[in-house]
Amino acid sequence: MESLVNPNVLQISPYVPGKPVEDIQREFNLKKIVKLASNENLLPIPANVAHAIRDELQQIHCYPDSDNYYLRQRLATLNNLPLDQVIVGAGSVELIHMLVRTFLKPGEHVLTSEKTFSLYKVATTEFAGEAAYREIPMDENLCFDLESILKRVDRQTKIIFITNPNNPTGTLVHSNAIRQFIQKVPHDKIIVLDNAYQEYVDNQEDYVSGLDEIQAGKNIIVLRTFSKIYGLAGLRIGYAMAKPEIISMLNRVKAPFNVTRVGQRAALASLENEDYKKRSANLNRINKAKLLAQMENLGLRVIPSQTNFLLFFPEIAPAELNVRLLKEGVIIRPAAGFGIPEGMRVTVGLEEDNEFFIEKLKKVLS
Ligand SMILES: Cc1ncc(COP(=O)(O)O)c(C=O)c1O
Repeated sequence: MESLVNPNVLQISPYVPGKPVEDIQREFNLKKIVKLASNENLLPIPANVAHAIRDELQQIHCYPDSDNYYLRQRLATLNNLPLDQVIVGAGSVELIHMLVRTFLKPGEHVLTSEKTFSLYKVATTEFAGEAAYREIPMDENLCFDLESILKRVDRQTKIIFITNPNNPTGTLVHSNAIRQFIQKVPHDKIIVLDNAYQEYVDNQEDYVSGLDEIQAGKNIIVLRTFSKIYGLAGLRIGYAMAKPEIISMLNRVKAPFNVTRVGQRAALASLENEDYKKRSANLNRINKAKLLAQMENLGLRVIPSQTNFLLFFPEIAPAELNVRLLKEGVIIRPAAGFGIPEGMRVTVGLEEDNEFFIEKLKKVLS
């Protein structure tokens, strides 16, 4: 079979998602399972969003609006941009693949940090081969090291991914560092700010969303998602904002009807519910602080996080800890797939989920 396949595809290490609850239930014959593996928002979606979803079901024999017009219009208004500066994708992952296909020319490469979201590498490798992907070590605080990344920018660098806050470390790059970096990167590069966890950042006043830089005409693409704080991971909706020339190029590679009718309606409805977002962020802050303290009490090294997850370093091998937890009905995520073989990532759940995780963690570590 391999001789039939595009050689770039052979170089891809497939993305390993958190195990589905159903698989673990079947495998270990368990009654209760708690999944804290994919950074989803576990607070049930608000009633207005559930209502919009049910209502839209009556129309699903028809294709969706390929242009995502109403959703784009709302997003443009909320972000203070014209309509032609927004594009919607089937999750931000679709947009990552689209932007690599659109901008990376033969011989050029993608630059980012090590220990970050693995889909940048998958998208690059699929399109241009593994050699087109370059990662730079993090600093000692497990943060993107923008100075080192800047030093490695050369004529062949085309796209630079900055994940802020980063997955899986949960660390944030400070606003001054981001601003200076954007100022210093040559104009013929594309900087992608992946802001998937933006809403969880404690100090929003000091956060560089990238919108001012887009307004100033920089080659910046901001990625946002409805999969995290909006609680719509199962519907696959993300969006990108950039200057009109960039969005118009991305539109050339966009598959028609890429976002479902239900997804578009649900996203629109969720934008009308600020309260759910605020409640989710507050709850996350409280639950995260408690979880962090409980884990540290168990003697674990845990990285303070500006997101809805925590990276930690168990004394025993993560693969072993993972199996022990799975047998107890807890699904979390070994961080090996993100380039951190000694780490594990746990999503901050609701109080009851976190308590279950801590109880089982205590049991399997003792
Ligand atoms: C940094 C980062 N970007 C993008 C995504 C993908 O989000 P989506 O569900 O919108 O494809 C994730 C999901 O975990 C993520 O962690």
